[in-house]
Amino acid sequence: MSKNVVLGVSGGIACYKALDIVSRLKKKGINVYVIMTQSATEFVAPLSFQSLSQNYVVVDMFEDPKTWEVEHISLAEKADVFVIAPATANVIGKIANGIADDMLTTTVMATKAPVLIAPAMNTNMYENKIVQRNIEFLRSIGYHFVEPESGRLACGAVGKGKLAEPEKIVEYIEMLLYKEKDLTGKNILITAGPTREDIDPVRFITNRSTGKMGYAIARAARDRGANVTLITGPTNINPPSFIDIVNVYSAEDMYRAVSERFDSCDVLVMSAAVADYRPKDRSDIKIKKSDDDLKIELTRNKDILFEIKDRKTHQVVIGFAAETNDVLENAQKKIKKKNLDFIVANDVSQKDSGFGTDTNTIKIIDKFGNIKDYPNMSKDDVAHTILDLLVK
Ligand SMILES: Cc1cc2nc3c(=O)[nH]c(=O)nc-3n(C[C@H](O)[C@H](O)[C@H](O)COP(=O)(O)O)c2cc1C
Repeated sequence: MSKNVVLGVSGGIACYKALDIVSRLKKKGINVYVIMTQSATEFVAPLSFQSLSQNYVVVDMFEDPKTWEVEHISLAEKADVFVIAPATANVIGKIANGIADDMLTTTVMATKAPVLIAPAMNTNMYENKIVQRNIEFLRSIGYHFVEPESGRLACGAVGKGKLAEPEKIVEYIEMLLYKEKDLTGKNILITAGPTREDIDPVRFITNRSTGKMGYAIARAARDRGANVTLITGPTNINPPSFIDIVNVYSAEDMYRAVSERFDSCDVLVMSAAVADYRPKDRSDIKIKKSDDDLKIELTRNKDILFEIKDRKTHQVVIGFAAETNDVLENAQKKIKKKNLDFIVANDVSQKDSGFGTDTNTIKIIDKFGNIKDYPNMSKDDVAHTILDLLVK
């Protein structure tokens, strides 16, 4: 069933960015109901929010209810998450002090949904002790905050107070929407993307991995309450928020990054496509072309899962097998050789599965030899399927 987000918009320059939040939520199939303060309507017309949310925008408490089919209390009840972005110093102060003198502050007082506040204001206002005290108080009673960022503000000042990026706010909303926090307190280490093995300063060997699958697992684990560390090779994906990101380049870097963190993790998901080979000799200068063929000798990289298998104590280790043939047979061999708990096998030769696609067709094989087949699913659904099995 679709989720409902109530978005409160208060009167600051950053109001226009709230339009992007609505648009991003709608693209994810989430219903959005916007409540604006009177001041907010000085910055952006309700019609813009109405068009993007496809729902009537509420401003006035005492408006004729015939023009609006949802009463304010039912909006408060309808919310799965209540977000205020941008939140002015004024609105934060009112909520912290129990004032409910307009539609936004009244509805937020009536809601039992998690409330997420994204402040945006001039740096001096943000640093004001009263504003800070109000934020601290609201945090202490369970309100969530997305901190403003530092930079050049619309008023010309440079400092903290810029509204957090809409993408980051939407990620926080998704974390709050996902109610099953069945991985709370677990440290999950995930690898993603390809590695690059240098031939010379301008050329390298890599593979077709885009990192989509590993990033999807990282986001899903984060939304389920885990502390996530994502070790990633070079990708074009924006780093997800609220995840510890470790950027690596080569297979050797990835081995070191995993090895340093393995003992303290509870789960390792190795979804990166780590290069098996690297050029034996990396040239420090660009190799000049000649009329002859060029032979590059390759040497074996460390197999990360094999290297750490004897250090396994309490960890659950999940491997990936991207194969083009004999998928099951190869996956079963890998489980034994690398002492894995599960392996996720996918046939990368299939359409809509494997590298670069948004979907994947997988089989999950456990160490007892049980095999589960899954239909083609989005990588987000594959991520949750893997985590469901992990939790079980
Ligand atoms: C041009 C302009 C920009 C403003 N920007 C902000 C802002 O970014 N953050 C803020 O807290 N107040 C800002 N204010 C002040 C608020 O609009 C003012 O405190 C107002 O009472 C807030 O009402 P509301 O909280 O009901 O929306 C701005 C005012 C003006 C005139």
